[in-house]
Amino acid sequence: MPAQPFFITTAIDYTNGAPHIGHAYEKVLADVLARFRTSQGDDVFFLTGVDQHGQKVQQSAEKLGVAPEAFVTDVTEKFTALWSKLEIEYTQWAATTAPEHKACVQATLTKLWETGHLYKDRRSGFYSVRQEQFITEKERGPDGEFGEEWGEVVVLEEENYFFKLAEHRDWLLALLDRRPDLVAPAFRQAELRNAVEKSSGDLCVSRPKSRLSWGIEFPFDPDFVAYVWFDALLNYVSFAPGFAECGRASEKFQRYWGSALHVIGKDILVPAHGVYWPIMLKAMGFSDDEIPHFLVHGWWNIAGAKMSKSTGNVVDPVELVSRFGSDAVRYYLMRDIQTGQDADFSTERLVARVNSELANGLGNLLNRTLNMTHRYLDGTLPALDDSNPVGAALRGRCIETATSAISAMARYEVHAAIESVARLVSDANAFVDTEAPWKLAKDPTQSDRLAAVLATLFLCLRTATTLLQSVIPTKSVEIFEQLGCAAFPVCGENEFRSAFTLSAPQAVSKPTPVFPRIEFAESET
Ligand code: MSP
Repeated sequence: MPAQPFFITTAIDYTNGAPHIGHAYEKVLADVLARFRTSQGDDVFFLTGVDQHGQKVQQSAEKLGVAPEAFVTDVTEKFTALWSKLEIEYTQWAATTAPEHKACVQATLTKLWETGHLYKDRRSGFYSVRQEQFITEKERGPDGEFGEEWGEVVVLEEENYFFKLAEHRDWLLALLDRRPDLVAPAFRQAELRNAVEKSSGDLCVSRPKSRLSWGIEFPFDPDFVAYVWFDALLNYVSFAPGFAECGRASEKFQRYWGSALHVIGKDILVPAHGVYWPIMLKAMGFSDDEIPHFLVHGWWNIAGAKMSKSTGNVVDPVELVSRFGSDAVRYYLMRDIQTGQDADFSTERLVARVNSELANGLGNLLNRTLNMTHRYLDGTLPALDDSNPVGAALRGRCIETATSAISAMARYEVHAAIESVARLVSDANAFVDTEAPWKLAKDPTQSDRLAAVLATLFLCLRTATTLLQSVIPTKSVEIFEQLGCAAFPVCGENEFRSAFTLSAPQAVSKPTPVFPRIEFAESET
């Protein structure tokens, strides 16, 4: 099969503060999905970056007495340093202060203005300083007050540019009905549909320069800059493959765009990604089938509460990676949350997962298998006849595990894929105990059985590591080195069936521990 394109993006992170574990989770999730598709032979383009404009950035820079350019450069470095520590392998970096992005935002504004999708109007209304947007009476809670999420709300009268959102409302509803798999998980699509049904009004897409200068200037009216969400959403196009060179018409853009998946958190589906973005794309001339898919993940909380800088319960990913290593952090972030749901972050659980599934599970299996191969077979496993009944059931479990992990990954259920691998590893460790190779080694009539047992364990290790390589990229390289083999291509069952046999003798290295147990006291949480 020819390589399938896969264009995956994450939200671009606000550069008004340091990254926290929530940002790291989204990046790791996208990176794991991207690497997995690469291991399946697909042609992956992974876009991520930073959202550098807007009032919050301007205010943070002002508070520190520095220019916004200097401020965002500094914060952006914190993000890029973390992504490199976490082995996030993106193809393209999107920074909204980049000239090609500015050009795209300005060209889009001009096009929408010229085609009648924008209009200028003077309005007076409530404005949320925190969310940087106008809000209406509808946003008042049952107590008549604007909720905490809006922060300070002021009354503003201003002339601005508006994007005609309301006239596309029925189109969006019809699109959601026609493409029920636009948003994953499905309950988020239902949530979006409800929100669209209740929505009304147009979107204010400008901010007067008199109060916000840190943004992209309107090309046909220099008194205004673009609203930060209008600017940020366009990164998915401005940095898309082929776009900067030749625009939408480019063959490269067309090839990737149809496969686009936006990975975002639950807080930014409605209204930004689920309402503004599809309507912006429609107004820009994209067809219904060119509206991208969304994968909406949940949030990591701390003891059930939202992480927040003001309450001080923010987990610093840099500290975690320095302490436990990037693969341990990646493994925990993928293992202990169901894609789409929220979860509670706990360092204790991280340690428990890593110790039980990586140190006692995979690491132990590797050590025992390689040690015994050296002790009893001089470090080389003989070829295994596929019809050998010894270990046949466990080799069958390898095929089952690969099949179920691949289908879980296609549903973005990384936790389920990892869980099926963890079960295989635990079955393999149990197989060691029941077969007791140390006893077989004492009986010369059992030498064939001993070789088949160890070869089967080798195949389990190769399967488990192949399926986990996107989650633990560094450690899996070390494991493959010790096993003396490479990952097998993670494609369809017919293609990978041959991966579960050992058709030629296989030399393995002596083991060196890959996952040392983490010593951790409760007082350290
Ligand atoms: N800049 C906008 C996105 C623009 S995309 C065109 C933004 N930035 S953000 O920095 O606030 O959030 C970036 C991503 O991190 C979002 O998808 C958000 O949902 C995610 N998370 C923020 N906190 C999170 C957790 N506690 N847990 C998981 N993800 C979280 O929104």
